Amino acid sequence: MKFLSSISMTILAASAAFTTCAQEYPGNAPVMAVVPFAAGGPTDKVAREVTAIMSKHLKAQIVIENVGGAGGTIGARKVASARNDGHTVLIHHIGMSTAPALYRKLGFDPLEDFEMVGEIADVPMVLLGNKNLPPQDFKELLPYIQSNASNLFMANAGIGSASHLCGLLFMSAIGKQLGTVPYKGTAPALTDLIGGQVNLMCDQTTNVSGQIKAGVVKPYIAMQSARIDAFRDIPAASEQGLPGIEVKIWHAMYAPKGTPADVVAKLSAALQAAVEDPSFRKKMEDLGAQAATADRATPSSLRKHLSNEINKWTPVIRAAGVYAD
Ligand code: MLT
Repeated sequence: MKFLSSISMTILAASAAFTTCAQEYPGNAPVMAVVPFAAGGPTDKVAREVTAIMSKHLKAQIVIENVGGAGGTIGARKVASARNDGHTVLIHHIGMSTAPALYRKLGFDPLEDFEMVGEIADVPMVLLGNKNLPPQDFKELLPYIQSNASNLFMANAGIGSASHLCGLLFMSAIGKQLGTVPYKGTAPALTDLIGGQVNLMCDQTTNVSGQIKAGVVKPYIAMQSARIDAFRDIPAASEQGLPGIEVKIWHAMYAPKGTPADVVAKLSAALQAAVEDPSFRKKMEDLGAQAATADRATPSSLRKHLSNEINKWTPVIRAAGVYAD
């Protein structure tokens, strides 16, 4: 009996410590938010805006850590193997749903190796050219690509990145293959597009809104069927003879598998407050994006959405025969 009672005492003590740790969360230690792309890019921008507000609700400092490379899979893998104490989260985008089909040695399962926290925002993409590219509009761009494809290069942020997927959709829609140049994120890629080292790029409006307004890049089409509210003068793909192109880059937050449910609930509550915050919603709108609603910033909604997206993209990628490894 004595042996059993000492075990039950140990279990009681452990569970008390566990409960205390969840009650104390987040305590004084900062929360590291891993962004799996280079600083200054679209994912980084969404991450910094949303964590600045989450931090107030969580009463904890949230520090962004940029871990770029391999279309976001290096950063995601780092979080999958991080301590599940609530002090490490991942902020990633649609790439979480395409990676399983693109990377045969992915090293993690997006659905099994993470706790879902919730969705953050949706961001549209625009096809951009270097300012000095001769075509003045999309009607001139198509014949120009047809006759200069071998000398034209599209930038992207690595296989599986939003810019890569958007570029794939564009090239398949026009039936022409261009050279591609991968970067650790579309922030460095944009520098080279402006500099003329690369000619074209699909990018998210959260990254390029300033450059479009400043006229330092040439926006050709919005990669969707409707014009983007914040950029009404950019024609939609459907208006330019490219029906069926509908690229929307959704962003979400994840924690390592095994992060206590109470801790995930606190993170999701802070995220729901952030996405409903008028200043966050306005900032996303100004950048051409749309904040998620609170009901999407929940673990159950994200799990369903991520599963649906994996099921949607896997056959598309398998049919295209595209692999990253
Ligand atoms: C970034 O944040 O750099 C972009 O999301 C990369 C991409 O997915 O194109």
